[in-house]
Amino acid sequence: MPREAKIKALIWLSGALLMVVTLAYVIDPLAGPADEPSHAYYLDSNAGDDSNSGHSPTAAWRTIGKINSIALEPGDTVYFRRGQVWRETLDWDFRGSAGLVRRFLEMQALNGYALLINGYPVGYCYYVAEERKGLIGDLYVMKDFLSVENEERLLTSVVQGLMKTPLIRRIESQLMMLRTGPAITLPDAKFVRTFVRNFMEIDAGTASRLAERAPSQPVWFDSWSERKQDEAATLIATAYQGHVDSEINDQYRSPAGARRFLMNIVQFPGCGSFFQPASFVAIEPGSGRLAGICLASLVQADVGHVTQVCVSKAARGTGAGYELIRKSLDSLARHGCRKVTLTVTGSNAEAIGLYERMGFRKTRNFSAFVWDTFWGQV
Ligand SMILES: CC(C)(COP(=O)(O)OP(=O)(O)OC[C@H]1O[C@@H](n2cnc3c(N)ncnc32)[C@H](O)[C@@H]1OP(=O)(O)O)[C@@H](O)C(=O)NCCC(=O)NCCS
Repeated sequence: MPREAKIKALIWLSGALLMVVTLAYVIDPLAGPADEPSHAYYLDSNAGDDSNSGHSPTAAWRTIGKINSIALEPGDTVYFRRGQVWRETLDWDFRGSAGLVRRFLEMQALNGYALLINGYPVGYCYYVAEERKGLIGDLYVMKDFLSVENEERLLTSVVQGLMKTPLIRRIESQLMMLRTGPAITLPDAKFVRTFVRNFMEIDAGTASRLAERAPSQPVWFDSWSERKQDEAATLIATAYQGHVDSEINDQYRSPAGARRFLMNIVQFPGCGSFFQPASFVAIEPGSGRLAGICLASLVQADVGHVTQVCVSKAARGTGAGYELIRKSLDSLARHGCRKVTLTVTGSNAEAIGLYERMGFRKTRNFSAFVWDTFWGQV
């Protein structure tokens, strides 16, 4: 493969890794119920059909997406057919991301470790090395072998391997699928910083009821176009100056890095498929300069995701952020999305406050790790 194509593909994969890539999520096999509760729902990933009623084993639904689309009440029960596998979680369609992983395997450009027990692979952790940075893509251990020790073994192998790789000075990871959570002992803990990240969501009903509000400082709103990419990169680099998110992702620290970040989310399917109709920019009327952006993707046919929102420091607190996000949510809801998700750093009180007031609710936490002071010391 020509070098240029390989570099492009590497950038593409790092886009995928920005969010999360997982290949399988195995649900506990459950035995059938002894007593039939009044609100029971059945899932069968082989024989089920989402157009069924879902109320009996013979009229089971097929996907977890169907369960996500209903409001479960306390006391309701969901039965997963014994021995089956569902490849869905977090309302995320992983086929695009899995395609990238396969592509990298074919190129023999995917590095990582498999955890073997009795010669059988029960887990993996992979990464890409991109210039001076190692980006850990995903860590997964099969349910039956899930333990703190096994997750630690994989993470330690990858981190220590990357630390010994020539030129690597920084390691980043956002492992949404790390399931033993804070119990894990991080490898080379003296070099690591941990950041709590929140996964938030809003349902389409709440989103489409948000009132349109004119910002207090005049601003024009326009649809996203790729011609704005360079200006948006400059906006990101200045908007995130001194911001915690630029500690987690160093691409936010310069226009060149932000350009790569934008290319990853706009052109490649790692963070869902970019959805231009729900992506907007805010422009200062006098200067014509970009004052804010809100970019959105589809992570499933009916689930939207806000991949980036930022407003210039000068235009903050005037309602531009609210209106940009509201426009994106409205467009996603009109498109048929039943919910919209986003991720935000737990200490980003300004953003979280705005999201909560708009109706977003936190659904879970995950950790972001950065090792960046090990150079010359390991
Ligand atoms: C988070 C961020 C996008 C918010 O953008 P913003 O333009 O400052 O947001 P808004 O002005 O719409 O809302 C902020 C406050 O201004 C208020 N406001 C002031 N005038 C307003 C008006 N005319 N209409 C509506 N809201 C107004 C809002 O009510 C809100 O106040 P509140 O927090 O007390 O509710 C912005 O702070 C930012 O770019 N931060 C850095 C990057 C970042 O953190 N991005 C998010 C990553 S997940």
